[in-house]
Amino acid sequence: MITLNDVKENPHVLEFIDQTEKAMEALSYTNHGLRHANIVSERAIQIAKAIGLSEREAELAGIAGFCHDMGNFMTRTLHHHFGAILFGQIFAATMDPKELSIVMQAISNHDKDEMNFVYPVSAILVLADKSDVDKSRVVATDPEHFKTDIHDRVNYATQDSSIEIDKATKRITLTLKIDTDFCPIMEYFEIFTERMVFCRKAAQFLGYDFGLVINKFKLL
Ligand SMILES: [Fe+2]
Ligand SMILES: [Fe+2]
Repeated sequence: MITLNDVKENPHVLEFIDQTEKAMEALSYTNHGLRHANIVSERAIQIAKAIGLSEREAELAGIAGFCHDMGNFMTRTLHHHFGAILFGQIFAATMDPKELSIVMQAISNHDKDEMNFVYPVSAILVLADKSDVDKSRVVATDPEHFKTDIHDRVNYATQDSSIEIDKATKRITLTLKIDTDFCPIMEYFEIFTERMVFCRKAAQFLGYDFGLVINKFKLL
């Protein structure tokens, strides 16, 4: 059985994530490398366990989280599909076919809302990935760059982000602390509305509502 540790030590996975980090840096994009891979993997496991999935399902969510962006070194717009195919190529000979399909499907569907969810792992990956908004993801250091790049501005202004799962009220809440001197909350919505709609769809598939709290204001 392929474990999360096996995946984290796989030389191809590590190389593809490293190359992704370099490729995104070259584009001055936010971090999509090892930092993001580890955070999304941990968050995916946290969500899976909190909603009561099995240990193995949580591990599969963690595996999908770790590998979800590794296709970015080849293409930005199709990175989710490429990442899924790469995962299949690396683990086809060693992983159970159904588990392999579940992880491939989760990776392939994490970026665009074009399919309906079939397995919880896919929905969990969406929530874990889209909730990673943070200052430390910003690679660019040139202040001029922030004036023109809204993604970096929003990420840079986010001082804290966390996701909480309340099993009793059936609510998954993303809580953000944004420095509004640096970026008005409106800018957050300008680029994140689509992602939040995707998160709501993912939460609903898991049987939960999706909540959004920014600077202690309950917005969703
Ligand atoms: Fe992605
Ligand atoms: Fe991602």
